[in-house]
Amino acid sequence: MSELKPSPLTGAETPRASLASVETRARVTAEPRTLAGGVQPVVRIECASVELGGRTIWENVNLEVDPGEFIAVLGPNGSGKSTLIKAMLGLVPLSRGSITVDGVSPRRGRRAVGYVPQRRSFGPEVHVRGRDLVRLGLDGNHWGVPLPPVGRLWGRETRSDIARKRVQQVIEMVGAEALADRPIGKLSGGEQQRLLIAEALVTEPRVLLLDEPLDSLDLSHQQEVSSVIRELSEQSGAAVFLVAHDVNPLLQYVDRLVYLAAGQVVVGKPEEVITTETLSLLYGTSVEVLRTSDGRLVVVGQPEGMPCAEHHHGPELAAKR
Ligand SMILES: Nc1ncnc2c1ncn2[C@@H]1O[C@H](COP(=O)(O)OP(=O)(O)O)[C@@H](O)[C@H]1O
Ligand SMILES: [Mg+2]
Repeated sequence: MSELKPSPLTGAETPRASLASVETRARVTAEPRTLAGGVQPVVRIECASVELGGRTIWENVNLEVDPGEFIAVLGPNGSGKSTLIKAMLGLVPLSRGSITVDGVSPRRGRRAVGYVPQRRSFGPEVHVRGRDLVRLGLDGNHWGVPLPPVGRLWGRETRSDIARKRVQQVIEMVGAEALADRPIGKLSGGEQQRLLIAEALVTEPRVLLLDEPLDSLDLSHQQEVSSVIRELSEQSGAAVFLVAHDVNPLLQYVDRLVYLAAGQVVVGKPEEVITTETLSLLYGTSVEVLRTSDGRLVVVGQPEGMPCAEHHHGPELAAKR
């Protein structure tokens, strides 16, 4: 993130000083820091780069995320948003740099990390109840790992009592009480998303990774799910990374954005990142950010067919789960 390379589209040198000023405003830090009260960042990404199929997907990413922070990950198709999520899960190796999640290097199956992969949904033929799906997150049949052994539990409660209570608690957190006993395949996309998020929350993760959970929802449900996520990151203290296509439904809820394009990354508050100046530097070509009368942000001239936006249709890494 130290500098923008010559633009792949125009070949023009992008002045380093300009990006540096964006970085300063955008609070991008590579320095380890300790928050007030000794709280450590829950995610720390330092000088991280990823190469896949011999191509750099993004490079030199620096980011520290506090407990309870809500981060949206944005960028054109193929810019490496899912790759960033998978790097935090230990599903994609870094070619340079380091990531720590809750103090340790990413690895699969950690209770500290909740994950909802991209495009996960259920057809009408799926009869499992939402409540049972959420329970799978605890029992280890899914991304989650099993409950601790009985000996480590307290009081007279059985494992099954504790599990039932925890499942009910997360169902209430996402406001899905009225949905949880219906077959999940019969619920709408937004209702399914709530239960998928509940499933990812059931192990009390410190970090929640949601890959396009708003995809296929209409605008009002996108806002509803965003507000649920905001509330639960505050309640549970989990840091949330949410990959999205459109910043608008998230504007009033997120703390910061990670914006990926052309192999480069900018991090900052929405009003710092979604600007004509910052996005033009990031894309290496002239784009314009307009605000509509109802307060929505529209990016005009955003290139789609950039080198990093090519799709190679390699094996889906999520399939390795
Ligand atoms: N296993 C892989 N091998 C080679 N290239 C890959 C692999 N997985 C993903 N890619 C490529 O990496 C780029 C970023 O992919 P991805 O992170 O899925 O983008 P996004 O989520 O932003 O749409 C794409 O060009 C994609 O084709
Ligand atoms: Mg993706």
